Amino acid sequence: MKADRLANIELSLIRQINALATPYSINLGIGEPNLAPDDTLREFAARAATLPWQYSANAGTLSLRKKLCEGTEFDPKTEACVTAGTQEALFAIFTAYVNPGDEVLVPNPGFVSYATLARICGATPVTYQLDPPEWHIDVDALRKKITPKTKLIVVNSPSNPLGSVIDRETLQVIADTGVLVVSDEIYREIWYDAWPASMVGMGDNVILMNGLSKSHGMTGLRLGWILARADVMQPIVTAHQYIATCASVFSQALAEMIFDHREWNEQWLAGVREQFAAQREAALYAIRHELDTELDPPRGAFYAFVPMPACNTVETAKELATDAAVLVIPGIAFGKMGQGFVRVSYAAPVDQIATGIERIGRWLRAKER
Ligand SMILES: Cc1ncc(COP(=O)(O)O)c(C=O)c1O
Repeated sequence: MKADRLANIELSLIRQINALATPYSINLGIGEPNLAPDDTLREFAARAATLPWQYSANAGTLSLRKKLCEGTEFDPKTEACVTAGTQEALFAIFTAYVNPGDEVLVPNPGFVSYATLARICGATPVTYQLDPPEWHIDVDALRKKITPKTKLIVVNSPSNPLGSVIDRETLQVIADTGVLVVSDEIYREIWYDAWPASMVGMGDNVILMNGLSKSHGMTGLRLGWILARADVMQPIVTAHQYIATCASVFSQALAEMIFDHREWNEQWLAGVREQFAAQREAALYAIRHELDTELDPPRGAFYAFVPMPACNTVETAKELATDAAVLVIPGIAFGKMGQGFVRVSYAAPVDQIATGIERIGRWLRAKER
């Protein structure tokens, strides 16, 4: 008999759709960058493997924490914690702060983990809306949702699943509510026209999260981090100790080398943005021509949230997976506001993006007949 805290928790729709993949599928469902390490990154990894394999301090090696705090007012000794990816960071933060009966404000549509983690902690996820087509947040409406029970507000810019970005003014208004804010900035290095604003420096109530999964194609190496004021951080590090002890020291050493080689890193990130810009272009072109839909170009991350108002998108996504051999995620997986949309991830080679979206178009046209 599983624990009550998991009573209504299932594997996410994303996992369910991905489970329908076959060798013939084109996978536009995955939230993982199609980046391969270059020779330099492989060399860093080879060097990192020669370093000691023992535990680090719970919060991570101090030398890496110093690098994470560079250019900020955070104290590396007490205000930075390296985690096993931002997923573990979220779990540590929720474990540290969220009680049964609390409320957690989460974006709708938004990344599935936020609401699920609230439920695991016995809290109620309360959604705030992002409105199409530009996915703006109505901050007055958000503020009205704050009650004495509100423990956390989760903010994610650039957004998974929307690819939208929240402007600096809106972020500041959210920080100024005084509620503890978790700012998930995992996609911040993947942008197209302008570097998205960070919530760094916006208030002592802001907890920042980032990591190397998306920017460096290091999803399997589990390297993330949290920056927060010392008093806010202290219970988070305690929770982190009992979840992970410390992040992988191999991944920490690799991260440190990445930050040490500033010039290489800047070039790497520029290359990543160039690659995703070409893939975004391919996706928008195919969506325009095959699905007859003009989308506002996503401003960050690698997701296009495509309207398919005429369909039950869960059924559609399942049928697309089994009948058309293309995987996309139904928008409803990300909350009620996602109804009538599918998330297309363009973290795939351009030919696959084109073929995948063409398959969707052909399948939709055959359905209409
Ligand atoms: C918005 C968002 N936050 C956090 C994560 C977790 O990333 P990781 O645990 O690999 O750092 C993801 C992964 O898809 C994500 O999309």
